[in-house]
Amino acid sequence: MSNENTQVRTATYLADPADVHRVLLLYSGGLDTSVMLKWIQDEYEAEVVALTVNLGQPGEDYEVVKGKARQLGAVDAFVVDAREEFARDYVAPAIKANAIYGLGYPLFTALGRPLIAKLAVEYAREHGCDTIAHGCTGKGNDQVRIEATIATLAPELKVIAPVRSWKMGRDEEVAYARANGIPVKGGTEAAPYSIDDNLWGRSSEGRWIEDLTVAPHDDVFQLVTRPELAPDEPETVEIEFEAGVPVGLGGERLALVELLERVAQLGMKHGVVIVDHIEDRIVGLKVRDIYEVPAAAILLPAHAELERLVGTIHQNQFKTQLDQRWAYLVYAGLWWEPLRANIDAYMESANANVTGKIGVKLFKGSARVVTRESPYAVYDAQLATFSESGGLFSQEASPGFIELWSLQSRMAWQVRGGR
Ligand code: ARG
Repeated sequence: MSNENTQVRTATYLADPADVHRVLLLYSGGLDTSVMLKWIQDEYEAEVVALTVNLGQPGEDYEVVKGKARQLGAVDAFVVDAREEFARDYVAPAIKANAIYGLGYPLFTALGRPLIAKLAVEYAREHGCDTIAHGCTGKGNDQVRIEATIATLAPELKVIAPVRSWKMGRDEEVAYARANGIPVKGGTEAAPYSIDDNLWGRSSEGRWIEDLTVAPHDDVFQLVTRPELAPDEPETVEIEFEAGVPVGLGGERLALVELLERVAQLGMKHGVVIVDHIEDRIVGLKVRDIYEVPAAAILLPAHAELERLVGTIHQNQFKTQLDQRWAYLVYAGLWWEPLRANIDAYMESANANVTGKIGVKLFKGSARVVTRESPYAVYDAQLATFSESGGLFSQEASPGFIELWSLQSRMAWQVRGGR
Protein backbone atom coordinates (compact mmCIF):
# COMPACT_ATOMS: atom_id res chain seq x y z
CA MET A 1 0.00 0.00 0.00
CA SER A 2 1.39 3.35 -1.02
CA ASN A 3 0.08 5.24 1.93
CA GLU A 4 2.19 7.96 3.52
CA ASN A 5 1.16 6.72 6.92
CA THR A 6 2.63 3.24 6.48
CA GLN A 7 6.00 4.82 5.90
CA VAL A 8 7.05 7.53 8.30
CA ARG A 9 4.41 9.49 10.12
CA THR A 10 5.82 12.93 9.51
CA ALA A 11 3.38 14.59 11.89
CA THR A 12 1.69 13.41 15.06
CA TYR A 13 -1.77 14.28 13.74
CA LEU A 14 -1.46 11.90 10.78
CA ALA A 15 -3.34 8.64 11.20
CA ASP A 16 -1.71 5.29 11.83
CA PRO A 17 -3.59 3.01 9.40
CA ALA A 18 -4.22 0.50 12.19
CA ASP A 19 -6.28 3.13 14.01
CA VAL A 20 -8.45 4.14 11.07
CA HIS A 21 -11.91 2.66 11.53
CA ARG A 22 -14.42 5.33 10.75
CA VAL A 23 -13.51 8.26 8.52
CA LEU A 24 -15.22 11.60 8.08
CA LEU A 25 -14.57 12.48 4.43
CA LEU A 26 -14.88 16.07 3.22
CA TYR A 27 -16.75 15.23 0.05
CA SER A 28 -17.27 17.56 -2.91
CA GLY A 29 -18.75 15.06 -5.34
CA GLY A 30 -15.84 15.56 -7.77
CA LEU A 31 -13.50 12.90 -9.09
CA ASP A 32 -10.82 13.01 -6.38
CA THR A 33 -13.10 12.73 -3.40
CA SER A 34 -15.37 10.19 -5.12
CA VAL A 35 -12.42 7.91 -5.83
CA MET A 36 -11.31 8.54 -2.28
CA LEU A 37 -14.66 7.52 -0.83
CA LYS A 38 -14.25 4.07 -2.36
CA TRP A 39 -10.49 3.87 -1.89
CA ILE A 40 -10.67 4.51 1.86
CA GLN A 41 -13.16 1.70 2.31
CA ASP A 42 -10.85 -0.67 0.42
CA GLU A 43 -7.44 0.44 1.72
CA TYR A 44 -8.34 0.84 5.37
CA GLU A 45 -11.37 -1.43 5.62
CA ALA A 46 -12.94 1.57 7.25
CA GLU A 47 -16.41 3.07 7.21
CA VAL A 48 -16.85 6.45 5.56
CA VAL A 49 -19.16 9.26 6.61
CA ALA A 50 -19.38 11.93 3.89
CA LEU A 51 -19.75 15.62 4.66
CA THR A 52 -20.41 18.26 2.01
CA VAL A 53 -20.37 21.92 3.00
CA ASN A 54 -22.47 24.48 1.16
CA LEU A 55 -20.65 27.83 1.19
CA GLY A 56 -22.69 29.17 -1.70
CA GLN A 57 -20.97 27.41 -4.63
CA PRO A 58 -23.15 28.49 -7.56
CA GLY A 59 -25.06 25.79 -9.40
CA GLU A 60 -24.27 22.88 -7.07
CA ASP A 61 -27.00 20.23 -6.63
CA TYR A 62 -26.40 18.99 -3.11
CA GLU A 63 -29.02 16.25 -3.26
CA VAL A 64 -27.16 14.72 -6.19
CA VAL A 65 -23.85 14.95 -4.32
CA LYS A 66 -25.38 13.30 -1.27
CA GLY A 67 -26.93 10.53 -3.37
CA LYS A 68 -23.58 9.88 -5.03
CA ALA A 69 -21.87 9.53 -1.64
CA ARG A 70 -24.48 6.99 -0.54
CA GLN A 71 -24.18 5.12 -3.79
CA LEU A 72 -20.40 4.87 -3.35
CA GLY A 73 -20.86 3.24 0.01
CA ALA A 74 -20.86 6.05 2.58
CA VAL A 75 -22.58 4.80 5.74
CA ASP A 76 -23.92 8.32 6.19
CA ALA A 77 -23.89 11.43 4.02
CA PHE A 78 -24.54 14.96 5.23
CA VAL A 79 -24.87 18.31 3.52
CA VAL A 80 -24.61 21.34 5.74
CA ASP A 81 -25.71 24.76 4.60
CA ALA A 82 -23.07 26.97 6.23
CA ARG A 83 -23.65 30.05 4.09
CA GLU A 84 -24.93 32.17 6.93
CA GLU A 85 -22.10 31.31 9.30
CA PHE A 86 -19.60 31.81 6.48
CA ALA A 87 -20.99 35.23 5.62
CA ARG A 88 -21.30 36.40 9.22
CA ASP A 89 -18.16 35.01 10.85
CA TYR A 90 -15.71 34.86 7.95
CA VAL A 91 -16.68 37.19 5.09
CA ALA A 92 -17.89 40.09 7.27
CA PRO A 93 -14.59 40.22 9.22
CA ALA A 94 -12.75 40.06 5.88
CA ILE A 95 -14.70 43.09 4.67
CA LYS A 96 -13.89 44.96 7.88
CA ALA A 97 -10.23 44.13 7.30
CA ASN A 98 -10.34 45.09 3.57
CA ALA A 99 -8.83 41.66 3.09
CA ILE A 100 -6.84 41.22 -0.10
CA TYR A 101 -3.77 39.03 -0.52
CA GLY A 102 -1.19 39.82 -3.17
CA LEU A 103 -2.52 42.09 -5.87
CA GLY A 104 -6.17 41.13 -5.83
CA TYR A 105 -7.09 37.82 -4.19
CA PRO A 106 -9.97 38.41 -1.76
CA LEU A 107 -9.26 35.14 0.08
CA PHE A 108 -12.55 33.33 -0.55
CA THR A 109 -10.93 29.87 -0.42
CA ALA A 110 -8.70 30.81 2.50
CA LEU A 111 -11.75 32.00 4.45
CA GLY A 112 -13.77 28.90 3.62
CA ARG A 113 -11.24 26.25 4.64
CA PRO A 114 -11.15 26.87 8.41
CA LEU A 115 -14.94 26.74 8.51
CA ILE A 116 -15.10 23.55 6.43
CA ALA A 117 -12.50 21.94 8.69
CA LYS A 118 -14.27 23.13 11.84
CA LEU A 119 -17.49 21.54 10.59
CA ALA A 120 -15.57 18.34 9.78
CA VAL A 121 -14.41 18.24 13.39
CA GLU A 122 -17.96 18.74 14.68
CA TYR A 123 -19.42 16.02 12.44
CA ALA A 124 -16.55 13.63 13.10
CA ARG A 125 -17.10 13.92 16.84
CA GLU A 126 -20.85 13.66 16.57
CA HIS A 127 -20.71 10.57 14.37
CA GLY A 128 -17.97 8.65 16.11
CA CYS A 129 -15.23 9.08 13.52
CA ASP A 130 -11.57 8.70 14.49
CA THR A 131 -10.12 10.23 11.33
CA ILE A 132 -10.82 13.08 8.88
CA ALA A 133 -9.96 12.73 5.19
CA HIS A 134 -9.70 15.56 2.67
CA GLY A 135 -8.86 15.84 -1.02
CA CYS A 136 -6.09 18.43 -0.95
CA THR A 137 -2.79 17.87 -2.73
CA GLY A 138 0.62 18.16 -1.11
CA LYS A 139 1.55 21.33 -2.97
CA GLY A 140 -1.20 23.73 -2.05
CA ASN A 141 -2.38 26.02 0.71
CA ASP A 142 -5.59 24.16 1.44
CA GLN A 143 -3.89 21.19 3.10
CA VAL A 144 -2.26 23.66 5.51
CA ARG A 145 -5.53 25.43 6.32
CA ILE A 146 -7.49 22.23 6.84
CA GLU A 147 -4.93 20.25 8.77
CA ALA A 148 -3.89 23.19 10.95
CA THR A 149 -7.54 23.64 11.85
CA ILE A 150 -8.09 19.97 12.72
CA ALA A 151 -4.86 19.69 14.69
CA THR A 152 -5.75 22.85 16.62
CA LEU A 153 -9.41 22.17 17.37
CA ALA A 154 -9.31 18.40 17.78
CA PRO A 155 -6.00 16.93 18.89
CA GLU A 156 -7.75 13.58 19.40
CA LEU A 157 -8.68 13.26 15.71
CA LYS A 158 -6.26 12.08 13.02
CA VAL A 159 -5.93 13.04 9.38
CA ILE A 160 -5.46 11.21 6.10
CA ALA A 161 -4.81 13.00 2.81
CA PRO A 162 -4.96 10.27 0.14
CA VAL A 163 -4.23 12.54 -2.86
CA ARG A 164 -0.90 13.41 -1.26
CA SER A 165 0.14 9.78 -1.09
CA TRP A 166 -1.73 7.55 -3.52
CA LYS A 167 0.39 8.62 -6.50
CA MET A 168 -2.45 8.20 -8.98
CA GLY A 169 -2.44 10.58 -11.92
CA ARG A 170 -5.68 11.63 -13.53
CA ASP A 171 -5.64 8.70 -15.95
CA GLU A 172 -5.24 6.19 -13.14
CA GLU A 173 -7.98 7.91 -11.16
CA VAL A 174 -10.32 7.74 -14.14
CA ALA A 175 -9.42 4.06 -14.59
CA TYR A 176 -10.07 3.44 -10.89
CA ALA A 177 -13.38 5.28 -11.17
CA ARG A 178 -14.38 3.18 -14.20
CA ALA A 179 -13.42 -0.05 -12.50
CA ASN A 180 -15.45 0.89 -9.44
CA GLY A 181 -18.56 2.27 -11.09
CA ILE A 182 -17.85 5.87 -10.09
CA PRO A 183 -19.51 8.32 -12.47
CA VAL A 184 -17.10 10.97 -13.77
CA LYS A 185 -18.80 14.35 -14.06
CA GLY A 186 -18.25 16.15 -17.38
CA GLY A 187 -16.75 13.14 -19.16
CA THR A 188 -13.27 11.70 -18.95
CA GLU A 189 -11.48 13.12 -21.98
CA ALA A 190 -10.01 16.48 -21.02
CA ALA A 191 -8.60 17.22 -17.59
CA PRO A 192 -10.82 19.98 -16.22
CA TYR A 193 -9.66 23.17 -14.56
CA SER A 194 -9.18 22.84 -10.83
CA ILE A 195 -12.00 24.96 -9.45
CA ASP A 196 -12.82 26.20 -6.00
CA ASP A 197 -15.70 28.54 -5.35
CA ASN A 198 -18.08 29.94 -2.78
CA LEU A 199 -20.23 33.03 -2.40
CA TRP A 200 -17.14 35.28 -2.13
CA GLY A 201 -15.48 34.18 -5.38
CA ARG A 202 -14.22 31.50 -7.72
CA SER A 203 -10.73 30.33 -8.66
CA SER A 204 -9.45 28.29 -11.56
CA GLU A 205 -6.06 26.62 -11.71
CA GLY A 206 -4.36 24.05 -13.94
CA ARG A 207 -4.24 23.43 -17.72
CA TRP A 208 -2.95 26.43 -19.73
CA ILE A 209 -3.15 28.63 -16.61
CA GLU A 210 0.17 27.07 -15.57
CA ASP A 211 1.81 28.54 -18.68
CA LEU A 212 2.46 32.16 -17.75
CA THR A 213 2.83 33.18 -21.38
CA VAL A 214 -0.73 32.15 -22.26
CA ALA A 215 -3.46 34.78 -22.03
CA PRO A 216 -6.74 33.55 -20.51
CA HIS A 217 -8.90 31.36 -22.71
CA ASP A 218 -12.51 32.50 -22.74
CA ASP A 219 -13.88 29.16 -21.51
CA VAL A 220 -12.39 29.62 -18.05
CA PHE A 221 -14.87 32.36 -17.17
CA GLN A 222 -17.96 30.59 -15.91
CA LEU A 223 -19.11 33.31 -13.54
CA VAL A 224 -18.21 36.81 -14.67
CA THR A 225 -19.22 38.07 -18.11
CA ARG A 226 -16.14 39.02 -20.08
CA PRO A 227 -15.95 42.83 -19.98
CA GLU A 228 -16.08 43.09 -23.77
CA LEU A 229 -19.46 41.33 -23.69
CA ALA A 230 -20.86 43.28 -20.73
CA PRO A 231 -23.75 45.75 -21.20
CA ASP A 232 -23.04 49.05 -22.95
CA GLU A 233 -25.01 50.89 -20.27
CA PRO A 234 -23.37 51.46 -16.88
CA GLU A 235 -25.29 50.76 -13.69
CA THR A 236 -24.77 52.45 -10.34
CA VAL A 237 -25.49 50.51 -7.14
CA GLU A 238 -25.79 52.03 -3.71
CA ILE A 239 -24.50 49.94 -0.84
CA GLU A 240 -25.39 50.75 2.72
CA PHE A 241 -23.03 49.80 5.55
CA GLU A 242 -23.53 49.65 9.30
CA ALA A 243 -20.45 49.35 11.49
CA GLY A 244 -18.46 48.06 8.53
CA VAL A 245 -20.96 45.41 7.39
CA PRO A 246 -23.07 45.78 4.24
CA VAL A 247 -26.75 45.78 5.20
CA GLY A 248 -28.58 47.30 2.24
CA LEU A 249 -28.56 47.42 -1.53
CA GLY A 250 -30.29 50.11 -3.57
CA GLY A 251 -32.32 51.18 -0.55
CA GLU A 252 -33.46 47.64 0.30
CA ARG A 253 -32.35 46.05 3.56
CA LEU A 254 -31.04 42.52 3.08
CA ALA A 255 -29.63 39.67 5.14
CA LEU A 256 -25.92 39.28 4.45
CA VAL A 257 -26.03 36.07 2.40
CA GLU A 258 -28.71 37.45 0.11
CA LEU A 259 -26.90 40.76 -0.18
CA LEU A 260 -23.65 39.03 -1.16
CA GLU A 261 -25.47 36.93 -3.73
CA ARG A 262 -27.30 39.91 -5.20
CA VAL A 263 -24.14 42.02 -5.43
CA ALA A 264 -22.41 39.07 -7.11
CA GLN A 265 -25.20 38.94 -9.72
CA LEU A 266 -24.62 42.61 -10.54
CA GLY A 267 -20.87 42.15 -10.77
CA MET A 268 -21.22 39.08 -12.99
CA LYS A 269 -23.46 41.01 -15.37
CA HIS A 270 -21.00 43.92 -15.71
CA GLY A 271 -17.78 41.92 -16.01
CA VAL A 272 -16.64 42.77 -12.47
CA VAL A 273 -14.05 41.51 -11.97
CA ILE A 274 -11.48 39.11 -13.40
CA VAL A 275 -8.08 38.82 -11.71
CA ASP A 276 -5.16 37.03 -13.38
CA HIS A 277 -2.93 36.48 -10.38
CA ILE A 278 0.55 35.17 -9.65
CA GLU A 279 0.66 34.25 -6.01
CA ASP A 280 3.24 33.26 -3.41
CA ARG A 281 1.91 30.13 -1.74
CA ILE A 282 2.52 29.26 1.89
CA VAL A 283 4.65 26.29 0.89
CA GLY A 284 7.02 28.39 -1.19
CA LEU A 285 5.74 27.76 -4.71
CA LYS A 286 4.45 30.47 -6.93
CA VAL A 287 1.17 29.69 -8.67
CA ARG A 288 -1.08 31.39 -11.19
CA ASP A 289 -4.79 31.63 -10.45
CA ILE A 290 -7.64 33.06 -12.47
CA TYR A 291 -10.09 34.63 -10.02
CA GLU A 292 -13.65 35.78 -10.66
CA VAL A 293 -14.75 37.90 -7.74
CA PRO A 294 -17.98 39.75 -8.53
CA ALA A 295 -19.14 40.45 -4.97
CA ALA A 296 -15.74 41.18 -3.44
CA ALA A 297 -14.70 43.53 -6.25
CA ILE A 298 -17.67 45.76 -5.46
CA LEU A 299 -17.97 45.49 -1.69
CA LEU A 300 -14.30 45.74 -0.73
CA PRO A 301 -13.62 49.05 -2.50
CA ALA A 302 -16.95 50.41 -1.23
CA HIS A 303 -16.08 49.48 2.35
CA ALA A 304 -12.55 50.83 2.10
CA GLU A 305 -13.86 54.12 0.75
CA LEU A 306 -16.35 54.57 3.57
CA GLU A 307 -13.79 53.56 6.18
CA ARG A 308 -11.32 56.14 4.92
CA LEU A 309 -13.99 58.80 4.94
CA VAL A 310 -14.87 58.30 8.61
CA GLY A 311 -11.31 57.59 9.79
CA THR A 312 -8.68 60.16 10.66
CA ILE A 313 -5.39 60.29 8.78
CA HIS A 314 -3.74 58.44 11.66
CA GLN A 315 -6.32 55.68 11.79
CA ASN A 316 -6.20 55.29 8.02
CA GLN A 317 -2.42 55.05 7.85
CA PHE A 318 -2.28 52.55 10.70
CA LYS A 319 -5.10 50.30 9.57
CA THR A 320 -3.64 49.39 6.18
CA GLN A 321 -0.76 47.72 8.00
CA LEU A 322 -3.09 45.66 10.18
CA ASP A 323 -5.27 44.84 7.17
CA GLN A 324 -2.26 43.36 5.45
CA ARG A 325 -1.26 41.37 8.49
CA TRP A 326 -4.78 40.00 8.89
CA ALA A 327 -4.93 38.96 5.24
CA TYR A 328 -1.61 37.15 5.46
CA LEU A 329 -2.54 35.23 8.61
CA VAL A 330 -5.75 34.08 6.97
CA TYR A 331 -4.06 33.26 3.67
CA ALA A 332 -1.39 31.33 5.50
CA GLY A 333 -3.80 29.01 7.30
CA LEU A 334 -3.55 30.60 10.74
CA TRP A 335 -7.21 31.43 11.25
CA TRP A 336 -7.10 30.09 14.82
CA GLU A 337 -3.95 32.03 15.73
CA PRO A 338 -4.77 34.36 18.64
CA LEU A 339 -3.17 37.30 16.85
CA ARG A 340 -5.98 37.09 14.30
CA ALA A 341 -8.55 37.44 17.08
CA ASN A 342 -6.53 40.30 18.61
CA ILE A 343 -6.49 42.12 15.30
CA ASP A 344 -10.22 41.44 14.87
CA ALA A 345 -10.86 43.26 18.14
CA TYR A 346 -9.12 46.27 16.63
CA MET A 347 -11.08 45.84 13.39
CA GLU A 348 -14.36 45.91 15.33
CA SER A 349 -13.36 49.09 17.06
CA ALA A 350 -12.09 50.73 13.89
CA ASN A 351 -15.32 49.84 12.08
CA ALA A 352 -17.69 51.14 14.76
CA ASN A 353 -18.42 54.28 12.75
CA VAL A 354 -18.15 52.78 9.27
CA THR A 355 -21.80 53.53 8.62
CA GLY A 356 -23.19 55.19 5.53
CA LYS A 357 -23.79 54.74 1.83
CA ILE A 358 -21.43 54.31 -1.08
CA GLY A 359 -22.46 54.43 -4.73
CA VAL A 360 -20.46 52.26 -7.11
CA LYS A 361 -20.67 52.55 -10.86
CA LEU A 362 -20.34 49.26 -12.74
CA PHE A 363 -19.28 49.30 -16.34
CA LYS A 364 -17.50 46.74 -18.51
CA GLY A 365 -15.25 45.26 -15.90
CA SER A 366 -14.80 48.24 -13.64
CA ALA A 367 -16.36 49.11 -10.31
CA ARG A 368 -15.72 52.76 -9.43
CA VAL A 369 -16.89 54.59 -6.33
CA VAL A 370 -18.89 57.64 -7.38
CA THR A 371 -20.81 58.80 -4.28
CA ARG A 372 -20.29 58.75 -0.50
CA GLU A 373 -22.49 59.61 2.43
CA SER A 374 -22.00 59.14 6.18
CA PRO A 375 -23.09 60.84 9.40
CA TYR A 376 -19.57 60.15 10.71
CA ALA A 377 -17.61 61.49 7.74
CA VAL A 378 -14.65 63.51 9.00
CA TYR A 379 -15.46 65.88 6.22
CA ASP A 380 -16.99 69.31 5.98
CA ALA A 381 -17.80 70.67 2.55
CA GLN A 382 -17.49 74.18 4.04
CA LEU A 383 -13.92 73.50 5.12
CA ALA A 384 -12.87 71.80 1.95
CA THR A 385 -14.12 74.49 -0.39
CA PHE A 386 -11.71 77.06 -1.70
CA SER A 387 -13.93 80.00 -0.93
CA GLU A 388 -15.23 80.41 2.63
CA SER A 389 -13.64 78.48 5.49
CA GLY A 390 -16.45 78.68 7.95
CA GLY A 391 -14.70 79.41 11.25
CA LEU A 392 -12.90 76.12 12.15
CA PHE A 393 -9.93 76.88 9.99
CA SER A 394 -7.92 80.05 9.63
CA GLN A 395 -5.96 80.44 6.43
CA GLU A 396 -3.87 83.15 8.10
CA ALA A 397 -2.50 80.44 10.44
CA SER A 398 -1.18 78.32 7.59
CA PRO A 399 2.19 80.11 7.08
CA GLY A 400 2.99 79.64 10.77
CA PHE A 401 2.22 75.98 10.45
CA ILE A 402 4.36 75.62 7.34
CA GLU A 403 7.33 77.29 9.06
CA LEU A 404 7.29 74.76 11.91
CA TRP A 405 6.28 71.78 9.77
CA SER A 406 9.27 72.26 7.44
CA LEU A 407 11.72 73.23 10.19
CA GLN A 408 13.82 70.06 10.35
CA SER A 409 13.86 69.59 6.60
CA ARG A 410 15.07 73.15 6.09
CA MET A 411 17.75 72.83 8.75
CA ALA A 412 19.01 69.55 7.28
CA TRP A 413 19.15 71.08 3.82
CA GLN A 414 21.29 73.96 5.15
CA VAL A 415 23.63 71.78 7.21
CA ARG A 416 24.31 69.54 4.23
CA GLY A 417 25.21 72.43 1.99
CA GLY A 418 22.07 72.40 -0.07
CA ARG A 419 22.11 68.72 -0.97
N1 ARG B 1 -4.71 30.14 -4.56
C1 ARG B 1 -5.92 30.27 -3.78
C2 ARG B 1 -5.63 29.97 -2.34
O1 ARG B 1 -4.63 29.42 -2.02
C3 ARG B 1 -7.05 29.41 -4.33
C4 ARG B 1 -6.91 27.95 -4.09
C5 ARG B 1 -8.02 27.17 -4.68
N2 ARG B 1 -8.05 25.84 -4.14
C6 ARG B 1 -8.29 24.76 -4.86
N3 ARG B 1 -8.23 23.61 -4.25
N4 ARG B 1 -8.51 24.80 -6.15
O2 ARG B 1 -6.42 30.29 -1.51
